[in-house]
Amino acid sequence: MLEVRHLTKRFGGLAAVNDVSLTLNKGEILGLIGPNGAGKTTFFNCVAGAMQPSEGQVLLEGRELTGKKAHDVCRAGIGRTYQIVKPFGKLSVRDNVLVGALNQTRNVADARRIADEALELTGLADQRNVLAASMPLPRRKRLEIARALATGPKILLLDEVMAGLNPSEVELAIDLIKTLRSRGIAILIIEHLMRVITSVSDRIVVMHHGEKLAEGAPSAVMNDPKVVEAYLGEGFVAQD
Ligand SMILES: Nc1ncnc2c1ncn2[C@@H]1O[C@H](COP(=O)(O)OP(=O)(O)O)[C@@H](O)[C@H]1O
Ligand SMILES: [Mg+2]
Repeated sequence: MLEVRHLTKRFGGLAAVNDVSLTLNKGEILGLIGPNGAGKTTFFNCVAGAMQPSEGQVLLEGRELTGKKAHDVCRAGIGRTYQIVKPFGKLSVRDNVLVGALNQTRNVADARRIADEALELTGLADQRNVLAASMPLPRRKRLEIARALATGPKILLLDEVMAGLNPSEVELAIDLIKTLRSRGIAILIIEHLMRVITSVSDRIVVMHHGEKLAEGAPSAVMNDPKVVEAYLGEGFVAQD
């Protein structure tokens, strides 16, 4: 579905992302992990067209998307959430999601139907008339997913959608992610909660100082001494 080739993003002298390649297959959930500052969000920004990469290519189903603007990337089928959620605070929850749905259609009635489906799927249907700004963080995180979902993505990029959630909200979010995959959406997910990453990911890529440090099956990656040293810390015991 997605092929990223030798992606580099420099900010002045700093290579925030340095020659990272990865592929995301149809129906796959790929976990992207690494310490703070590793370059994960910058990688997402370059894939999603929010930033232009310094070098490298992004291909969706073989079609080159490198250098395209965020709205064109979205229309091509890549939806994303933002690590720092910024809903349109003065709009209702439903209208926030409607903004995403208008990516798929200019027909407002159709867009409403798509938005309502996304609200249903994310468990926000009973919140549809609430002002987005007045919702607590866990719901705003879900709203972020609902809006991305309403754009009709083939691929979803999820950037720390579980940060700040309590354990039961995390469980709900895990179920939601698995539901999205069962609907045929491929997912690239950045998350710090190892329990989440190991339970949803088919494969994991680890980034460190902008570079790809490791890649593979969750159990292999979690037990890789390089990964334990750079990220997980000594004393970490991988759980199956
Ligand atoms: N717009 C920017 N301008 C300059 N430096 C940036 C910018 N965005 C990110 N960085 C730097 O790039 C590095 C990677 O950041 P980021 O991609 O946010 O990491 P992560 O998401 O893995 O925590 C950090 O050193 C950060 O300070
Ligand atoms: Mg980040």
